[in-house]
Amino acid sequence: MRFLPVFLDLQTGPVLLVGGGELARAKLRLLVSAQARVRWYATDGHHDLRGLDAADAAHIELAEGDPLSADLHGVIAILCAGAGEVGPLMSARAKAVGLPVNVMDDLTHSTFIFPAIVDRGDVVVAVGTGGASPVVARRVRESIEAILPARIGDLAGFIGRWRKPIHDRIAEMPLRRRFWERVIDGPIGALVLAGRINEAETALTDIRDPADFAGALANGQAEGRVTLVGAGPGDPDLLTVKALRALQDADVVFYDELVSPEVLDRARRDASRVPVGRRVGKPGIGQDAINTLLIEAAKSGQRVVRLKGGDGFIFGRGGEEIEALREANVACSVVPGITAAMGAAAEFEVPLTFRHEALRITFLTAHKATDADAVDWSVLTDEKMTIVVYMGMTAAPSVRDGLLAAGRSPQTPVGVFARVTRPDSKAVTGRLEGLPDLVDQIDGGPALLIIGDVVAHSAPWRIQNLRQRIEKLLEAAE
Ligand SMILES: C[S@@+](CC[C@H](N)C(=O)[O-])C[C@H]1O[C@@H](n2cnc3c(N)ncnc32)[C@H](O)[C@@H]1O
Repeated sequence: MRFLPVFLDLQTGPVLLVGGGELARAKLRLLVSAQARVRWYATDGHHDLRGLDAADAAHIELAEGDPLSADLHGVIAILCAGAGEVGPLMSARAKAVGLPVNVMDDLTHSTFIFPAIVDRGDVVVAVGTGGASPVVARRVRESIEAILPARIGDLAGFIGRWRKPIHDRIAEMPLRRRFWERVIDGPIGALVLAGRINEAETALTDIRDPADFAGALANGQAEGRVTLVGAGPGDPDLLTVKALRALQDADVVFYDELVSPEVLDRARRDASRVPVGRRVGKPGIGQDAINTLLIEAAKSGQRVVRLKGGDGFIFGRGGEEIEALREANVACSVVPGITAAMGAAAEFEVPLTFRHEALRITFLTAHKATDADAVDWSVLTDEKMTIVVYMGMTAAPSVRDGLLAAGRSPQTPVGVFARVTRPDSKAVTGRLEGLPDLVDQIDGGPALLIIGDVVAHSAPWRIQNLRQRIEKLLEAAE
């Protein structure tokens, strides 16, 4: 490590900025955002303040003359951006008087460098590569941006406001640390991160005995919570930022059979992983047993993630779990996932709605033929309605028969979309009358049926049509 990351207080004196053009202006914006007072020598003779408002401009002193003979008294750092040959000369001057200096893109003449910055108010993350690769630093910054809660700065500010009163009430430092851990990891922290600052303030005010509150954590009585997380249809890159964060934070993950191993891999390395869904040839442990496991794990103080394929609230029984948790007084929250229909739509370019052609969508389940028989197909005959059938492979003949009997055209475009967003995904398209044959071609589930004119806009339909046209041309040529 050649450069030590430190945070500089820029309010103790002016920063000398030497240079011009967009490079200098970018640094000017950065300095002003850190409340710096800037003395600016525009080496191109043009003090261009575009993009800065009057309040920002008030921090800037427009200096004239030769920067090489500038008065450096009280200056806290020198920064050269777009300064050309003046940069190395300024660097020599700064070094002679022991002032920190940065010459942009010039490590030899710099005694400090700028990191890539994640700026969330009071929370600032600096990423450096020792000047080797600003592009790598930016990539790292993007990864951190993605994982940091948007309101993490608010959380730091909230704690900052309460620091002194709590310090006055808990003298012992380790206990104080546990107090803040409990606040941050518990419902109060969650309220702040959800933007509900007033409720968080009230909850903190309501803690009568902060030392006792902290002591509960020390005695293993921490509050657990359950986050119901939608895992999406398989591709781990389709997890939401919030889902990823919950997985990274989990002590234990209870997952269903539809969750892909790649998604599960995104959980914190030390988190326990507990399968609770059906496994090949074996039934699952049952909903009541799952509810009990979730409640017990949360009540033992663990951060629990309940991970479900797609979205937990679409044929995922998430509603039942949330109700059981509420009844047991366990704190819980829900993170949505990309449901299989959306995964299929994106991967195979099936626009689920289409102007003038498809104005409504119905998601339905046809787990068994008996479920399919229970569906009132007569309400699904509108040609401008796209129908997405979950768990419909076995019941495909009943789905076809029900829709045909209700009057939907046998020529309606349909598609079967299997293992969507996974490496072995497959889609076949055809007409409603041949739906069961399409299911036979798909080589196993999980799979969705999509029924409606929109399927004719999909990529597999277009490819299939092209193939048929080529075959006809070849036949004609023989
Ligand atoms: C119990 S439901 C769960 C649905 C899930 N909650 C969702 O939002 O996608 C299971 C059905 O979802 C569909 N499904 C789930 N993942 C899928 C995938 N990767 N490809 C195609 N269909 C999928 C299949 O119809 C499967 O039988």
